[in-house]
Amino acid sequence: MKFTRRQLLASGAVATTLVGASAILINRKNNRMTLKNASNEFYRSLPIPELLDANKLGNNIELTAQEGMTEIVPSYSTPTYGYSSSYLGPTIRIQRGDIVNMKITNALDSVTTVHWHGLFVPSELDGGPYGVINPGQVWQPSLHINQPASTAWYHPHPHGDTARQVYMGLAGLIYVEDGSSNDLGLPNRYGLDDLPIVLQDRFFTADGDMVYDGSPMAVMHGSRGNTLIVNGTYGPVAEVPKGMVRLRFLNGANARNFRLIFDDSRLMQVIANDNGFIANPVAVSELTIAPGERYEVLVDFSDGTVSALLTYPDQKGRPATGLSDSLNELMTDIKDILTPVMRFDPVDDVSVVTRDLPLKLVELPTPVVPADIKHRTFILDSMTAVNMPMTGQMEPMAGMDHSQMGGSMAMEGKSGLAMGMKMGINGKTFDMTRVDAEVKLGNKEIWELRGTEMAHPFHIHGASFRILNVDGAVPPEHQSGNKDTVLVNEWVQLLVSFDQPTSPSRPFMFHCHILEHEDAGMMGQYVTV
Ligand code: C2O
Ligand code: CU
Ligand code: CU
Repeated sequence: MKFTRRQLLASGAVATTLVGASAILINRKNNRMTLKNASNEFYRSLPIPELLDANKLGNNIELTAQEGMTEIVPSYSTPTYGYSSSYLGPTIRIQRGDIVNMKITNALDSVTTVHWHGLFVPSELDGGPYGVINPGQVWQPSLHINQPASTAWYHPHPHGDTARQVYMGLAGLIYVEDGSSNDLGLPNRYGLDDLPIVLQDRFFTADGDMVYDGSPMAVMHGSRGNTLIVNGTYGPVAEVPKGMVRLRFLNGANARNFRLIFDDSRLMQVIANDNGFIANPVAVSELTIAPGERYEVLVDFSDGTVSALLTYPDQKGRPATGLSDSLNELMTDIKDILTPVMRFDPVDDVSVVTRDLPLKLVELPTPVVPADIKHRTFILDSMTAVNMPMTGQMEPMAGMDHSQMGGSMAMEGKSGLAMGMKMGINGKTFDMTRVDAEVKLGNKEIWELRGTEMAHPFHIHGASFRILNVDGAVPPEHQSGNKDTVLVNEWVQLLVSFDQPTSPSRPFMFHCHILEHEDAGMMGQYVTV
């Protein structure tokens, strides 16, 4: 049964139940999946964030971090944050070779920063925890863009308050362009056949309020919501041309891994990783995207069939023990239950439709490991409560006062952070006064990462890497490109290129991109010398 958007609107279908009630069951016999309660899903068109084309704006981009109210779930408005918007921020399109002047105004009453995740700029301009923008203040970095076409993003990174601010809605996409999309004949009409897809989850109460769970349990495993949203909307539909459509996926969730699959098992041709194109399109029917990661895929809708994008439960996030009931429900072991994410409705489009898949995308040399390369090992630990009582007084993070922690969404005095829950790397919790690694500018190093207890998405600022090894095997082909974020199950080996300078007072970060883990100290600093 298919519904058009108009039929659904006319029928007055409203989400009376939130995600969970609307699971999809696989019928093992014919391997088809059927939508239960389809009418309760997919009733609003996919919002497309405004496009700020830097070229057309004289390379001047202005953003304001601000509060607002957003109807994420229909009929309910909830307090949110956004960049020049009530939720999320505009997509910024920038050209390789340009110098882009950013002007960020902080209209929030918390300290914030803006980090360019995936842009390669000196640490001075990186917008990590050192790039403090106080309430009412303005930050104006000029970014020299010199990197291949890729999908990057921006989000806040204030010390100890990143998870809450991102959860409230602060995030946006950056498209770096260098002409290659045109040369390769890839779909690149923004919002038409080149769609930004920001995947997130949020927790909504039965009253429709979005709440942030900062409890110790949520900090320990990462905060997961009960409602999957795309571009800030629950259950959207995108009308797409009957041809190749490019989807630029960002996992912008605080902690949830998405494991995407189409209900008709339609293939996704992966064309790009975090930092640019891979050598050739690689077809996958399932795609796992960890928090912070980006993938670009092409999907062929030329058959004209309506197709739903679904996700498996987040089993990678499932720790060994100690789940609360709500987490248990979210991270169920029942593999056959899939949750709808969004739907695609192919429509007749009079303008140009891309039909062909390029065979070759970019020259991607096989990684060469120099014989004398430096190795480092980082163990991502949940050093939770080793010396830390689960109850006790507020312990402000170093260098912060109380007003910067929490804010309205954190459960006052009860958040895991406030209770002193700590995470670490190699047994050390994050310390802004300690530099954890000195690397030689322009060198490559092998970084080996080991996860404990659960999967951790690991991210390095100011550096790009190739995956050499995943749990002892070569990485899957669709992850063969340049990346800045990788999901660490057991262990991975990365060949990391360090090409951005740091100033002595401003190291670059490396950390777990489960934002609760990052805030709780699963983060370190490196300098290039
Ligand atoms: Cu996307 Cu240090 O973060
Ligand atoms: Cu980053
Ligand atoms: Cu982690």
